[in-house]
Amino acid sequence: MDLYMLFPTISTFFIVVSAILVAIGWNLAIKRRLEAHKKMMIAGAIAAILFFIIYSSRTLLVGNTDWGGPDSLAPYYYVFLIFHIILATVAAVFGITTLVLGFKEKYARHRRLGRVTSVIWFITAITGVAVYVMLYILYPGGHTKPVFDILFRL
Ligand code: HEM
Repeated sequence: MDLYMLFPTISTFFIVVSAILVAIGWNLAIKRRLEAHKKMMIAGAIAAILFFIIYSSRTLLVGNTDWGGPDSLAPYYYVFLIFHIILATVAAVFGITTLVLGFKEKYARHRRLGRVTSVIWFITAITGVAVYVMLYILYPGGHTKPVFDILFRL
């Protein structure tokens, strides 16, 4: 596997791990195993943060990958990608709010928002894997330059 694929593969892996931990954490909350729920959700949040660190360092150091499939499919791919990015951003904001509500013991609001956050995070993970499959498995991705190269005209 070359460097262009390594980082996206690791970051996609962490989204999936995070979504699985959130699913287990939700189940623990339903079973009222609340201390285990708390630990599982913190682990899910750490996996999400690892995803974000790997994703953003790759964007800065290696660059983003262009669509490598047929031009006719490019608009659909970009609409799907934007949908995924919007979901991921909403999930991040909701996730932080859900954690804060949990730590502040505002459990009624935490419970309501937690359900929405979890569902959005599941869809984010599924669409994230779909983006990965479209970009690296179905079609070979086109390569772009790292942001630093563009900034410093390397
Ligand atoms: C982003 C991370 C988290 C998510 C997505 C989340 C999600 C949820 C969900 C969906 C429920 C409701 C389960 C149901 O009845 O369907 C819940 C309940 C609960 N969560 Fe979390 N949770 C998170 C983090 C935390 C943390 C860090 C704490 C503690 C500091 C916590 C404490 C609780 C408690 C005590 C309940 C039970 C509330 C009640 O039924 O009154 N959660 N959580």
